[in-house]
Amino acid sequence: MSETEWIREHAIRSLERLLPPLRVIMAGVVKDDPNGWQVFERRLWAEWPRLFRLLHQLYGTNYDFFYHLGAILATTAHAWAGRPGQLRELDAQREADPFWYQSQKLTGAVCYVDLFADDLAGMHERIPYLKQLGIGYLHLMPLFAAPEGNNDGGYAVSSYRQVAPHIGTIQQLADLATALRNEGISLVLDFVFNHTSDEHEWAKRARAGEREYEEFYFLFPDRTIPDQYDRTLREIFPTVRRGSFTWDADIERWVWTTFNSFQWDLNYRNPAVFCAMAEELFFLANTGVEVLRLDAVAFIWKELGTSCENLPQAHLIIQAYNALARIACPALIFKSEAIVHPDDVVKYISLQEAQISYNPLFMALCWEALATREVKLLAHSLATRWAIPQGCSWVNYLRSHDDIGWTFDDEDARRLGIDPYGHRRFLNDFYTGDFPGSFARGVPFQANPVTGDARVSGTLASLAGLEQAIHEQNGALTDLAIRRILLLYSVVLAAGGIPLFYLGDEVATLNDYSYVRNATHADDSRWVHRVAYHWRDNGIHNDMAQPGGYIFNELLRLIALRQGQEAFGGNQLEVIASGNPHVLGFVRTAAGKRILVIANFSEREQQVSANRMRLFGLSYCFRDLNGGSEVAANTYFTLAPYQFLWLEPYT
Ligand code: GLC
Ligand code: GLC
Repeated sequence: MSETEWIREHAIRSLERLLPPLRVIMAGVVKDDPNGWQVFERRLWAEWPRLFRLLHQLYGTNYDFFYHLGAILATTAHAWAGRPGQLRELDAQREADPFWYQSQKLTGAVCYVDLFADDLAGMHERIPYLKQLGIGYLHLMPLFAAPEGNNDGGYAVSSYRQVAPHIGTIQQLADLATALRNEGISLVLDFVFNHTSDEHEWAKRARAGEREYEEFYFLFPDRTIPDQYDRTLREIFPTVRRGSFTWDADIERWVWTTFNSFQWDLNYRNPAVFCAMAEELFFLANTGVEVLRLDAVAFIWKELGTSCENLPQAHLIIQAYNALARIACPALIFKSEAIVHPDDVVKYISLQEAQISYNPLFMALCWEALATREVKLLAHSLATRWAIPQGCSWVNYLRSHDDIGWTFDDEDARRLGIDPYGHRRFLNDFYTGDFPGSFARGVPFQANPVTGDARVSGTLASLAGLEQAIHEQNGALTDLAIRRILLLYSVVLAAGGIPLFYLGDEVATLNDYSYVRNATHADDSRWVHRVAYHWRDNGIHNDMAQPGGYIFNELLRLIALRQGQEAFGGNQLEVIASGNPHVLGFVRTAAGKRILVIANFSEREQQVSANRMRLFGLSYCFRDLNGGSEVAANTYFTLAPYQFLWLEPYT
């Protein structure tokens, strides 16, 4: 018998054994809702062989593997039973239309509830604003109970079932999810499953010496093992602490803490951790979350002698959670947050793992092209690294709550005559304003004196030159900065997948340096771009004379334009050689429609050959969707500084 046959057979046999007692436990539900239960069993049979294989690969050698299997099944059944009716309807709807997130009508936004709207009640009031922007995907930054003071912007979660008191209650969250859904907006929340805060119930019980919970984490009595691991680990927050372990004086143990000292890494080698987190996942799903952003996916499995990033088992864990979701709450999809080498980013993306993913490469290289005024690295990377499995989508963004890291591939760079190390230094200098002539006003983040590595913080507008222009009260520079911002928006809106906006950027919010006066934020420069929303900057949204107002209205126009173009749906993108080193060109195709995008990344006028465009556009004539005019050039298209064209071919 081959291994696959063995797995299949044991999978089926195990389910045949586990189902009858499960039906007994779930008797009430089975009796009250026989149709629903049938649907559940259908999904269960469809997913079980895959789930069994994954769990067997992860935990098969565990002596009580079958016990854990039963526990996971029971958890899944209870999750399904507790799923509200409206969400079950959504499940059916999404099973019939699984690729809903590929629509060009979908635009995403992300914000901190407290910074954007004070609290969850305030969020309700902002729904019309989100609608005005055309938002259909709303990511609320971590809003759960977390330690007082520094909690890594909420990424140190003390309870996944309790909203932080200043933000609201779980009931308000569930109500908000419903209200959003009724307006066609899907709620996205984080699944921070790599670690908990040191105040989470599990951590407290580990601290109290409960063996069961000690085994949830990585605790070591001395440096022997931590030293062995540290040899091959990357430091994520080197300015906070050297190495990846923290000495906890109370329990006299070294604790694995990849991020901050108060974020304890969970040990997924322990099947009880997998199961406990599955319960939290289901809880979030049943609260009305439609997309879970899988936080820090790269780090969830550890193996001595490796970097402990992107290990094969990390994928198995996510796939197993994916299978659980398909059974109990199939409307739920996953978004991967892997801000790692591009070869590793794509490995998380598949219908069986994370259906959608941040696209950190595209993000970083848009900024790279803006700094260099050359598109070769961006075009090359788009041409060679855009493809992902059918049905999946990139989430394309320009700024997030995090820093920008220069995650391109070194070989890609060298092939184009770029020295990767020197180039990263240049980009850091450029975006922190150190490079002569730079328009950017960013702040360094986590500069590592040993490796020379560093990242950059800053709002979109400050990085794109608006802060400098305003500071110098220079109208010409302001004009260029606005053009740069709109150029970036045009590219990210045209590129496909889900465009995601960091709220505040749509009105060109500038850096806020006051974070340095806040003791809990002072040593984390990401707070420079985590700015309280300026609702009271009265009327900015309608004031076309202010850069923020002008940009907002242009963005509204572009989003609406995109929504009306079927060619912008899906994820299909073909880079074209524009023949001009400053001009990015690509073709989007969907639903039999075609749009040619060309974008000038320099502050000088540029030309591209019209015949070349005809070749790619498969047409003689073009209409610029953006300006509405026909582009009738015979020999050249001329692009003004930072101009972009969305060209619709016609004959
Ligand atoms: C993710 C978050 C980041 C956080 C880290 C640790 O990368 O985006 O803000 O610091 O995870 O949870
Ligand atoms: C993330 C990434 C890192 C990022 C950090 C948060 O998990 O790996 O590049 O900058 O955590 O800032």
